[in-house]
Amino acid sequence: MVKICVIGAGIVGLSSATITQDRFPEATVKIIADRFGNDTTSWGAGGLFRPSLKHITGTSPQTVRKWCHASWDRYIGLAQSSLAKETGISLVTGFVASRENEDFMFKEITINAHDLSKTELKRLQLPYNFGVSCTTVITEVTKYMPWLMKRFQERGGTLEQRTIKNLNELAGEFDIVINCCGFAALDLVGDKKVYPIRGQLVKVKAPWIKHWYLTSDNTYLIPHCDCVIIGGCRQKNNFSTSVDPEMSADIMMRAKKLFPQLEGAEVIGEWAGLRPCRSPPRIEKEFLFSQGRKLRIVHNYGHGANGITLSWGTSLDAVDLVEECMNDLRTSKL
Ligand SMILES: Cc1cc2nc3c(=O)[nH]c(=O)nc-3n(C[C@H](O)[C@H](O)[C@H](O)COP(=O)(O)OP(=O)(O)OC[C@H]3O[C@@H](n4cnc5c(N)ncnc54)[C@H](O)[C@@H]3O)c2cc1C
Ligand SMILES: *[C@@H]1O[C@H](CO)[C@@H](O)[C@H](O)[C@H]1NC(C)=O
Ligand SMILES: *[C@@H]1O[C@H](CO)[C@@H](O)[C@H](O)[C@H]1NC(C)=O
Repeated sequence: MVKICVIGAGIVGLSSATITQDRFPEATVKIIADRFGNDTTSWGAGGLFRPSLKHITGTSPQTVRKWCHASWDRYIGLAQSSLAKETGISLVTGFVASRENEDFMFKEITINAHDLSKTELKRLQLPYNFGVSCTTVITEVTKYMPWLMKRFQERGGTLEQRTIKNLNELAGEFDIVINCCGFAALDLVGDKKVYPIRGQLVKVKAPWIKHWYLTSDNTYLIPHCDCVIIGGCRQKNNFSTSVDPEMSADIMMRAKKLFPQLEGAEVIGEWAGLRPCRSPPRIEKEFLFSQGRKLRIVHNYGHGANGITLSWGTSLDAVDLVEECMNDLRTSKL
């Protein structure tokens, strides 16, 4: 029986593990991670499905489109199904606004999209020159990840909490490794192209806010069922994962100025995380040799600010590479 290991229990690892089980029911799949659930970066993400050619760089626009379309199909399928409640995925209308004119990719992939006229921007009291309104999906990761995890375990998937120091330690134990370690690729595989963009969020109770808002100044609102996520910031090469109270105050100040409808919202939480950036995201096959053994690796990390948006799409591509590894396993002597 082919033994497959997925490193990482964030949204990318869980997606890759699930697709691998679907594609190769005869293989055993184990997730190894040093952090699970609320300890991962994925857990804190706002979860807005946000296709973008501006933030996802280093690869062709066709590839970005392919990843985004595949994830979109997956998410809207769940949002419009009886699983909507359990997966925490819903369709929400909102606005993206910018000072400069952009090719908003929202228009290609989401539904109900149109350019906001100057009059509409004015009615919304948004001090921006350009914008798009559309209906996209919001994934409440705190529901979607446990749902993925539950399905993974129901179908025989196993878990191990362990820190991998070197991929070679998995040679012999597994035939194929899917590496979804996110930002940790900087240490685990010494990938110098990986860098953090630190983000911070404030959670408030404001059930009267039903639309999402995204601006080119990194101030945004993402409504969930039980809270509204308010962001944010983009601090490149800042490695701090602790919440900075001054930053929270700054976020609230900026948000209240742009969105006065927040008045009266009660703060219920704060969170900081590192976006695992890499240009391009690394979806790549690699063979390692260790003590006469061949370890087949598929990398799937570096999703930056768009990991929720990209996870299903890049994981489908990663599992295509697992299939190539399977074929190599059949024909190779090592
Ligand atoms: C403030 C903020 C808001 C965001 N909002 C959005 C949004 O609205 N929409 C969107 O699309 N994206 C958003 N993102 C981006 C998104 O959160 C990330 O791109 C995504 O979570 C990356 O997922 P991942 O599975 O690669 O990484 P992670 O969630 O970090 O998971 C990595 C996993 O690998 C494991 N691991 C790493 N190294 C090792 C090792 N050596 N041994 C064992 N295990 C290891 C970890 O334990 C963990 O389980 C946001 C990010 C931030 C910071
Ligand atoms: C994180 O999850 C663990 C296990 O489910 C739980 O015990 C812990 O209280 C949670 N921590 C936070 C900060 O929510
Ligand atoms: C990193 O961000 C934190 C929180 O905002 C801030 O206090 C700190 O000064 C920053 N560090 C660097 C090196 O920029």
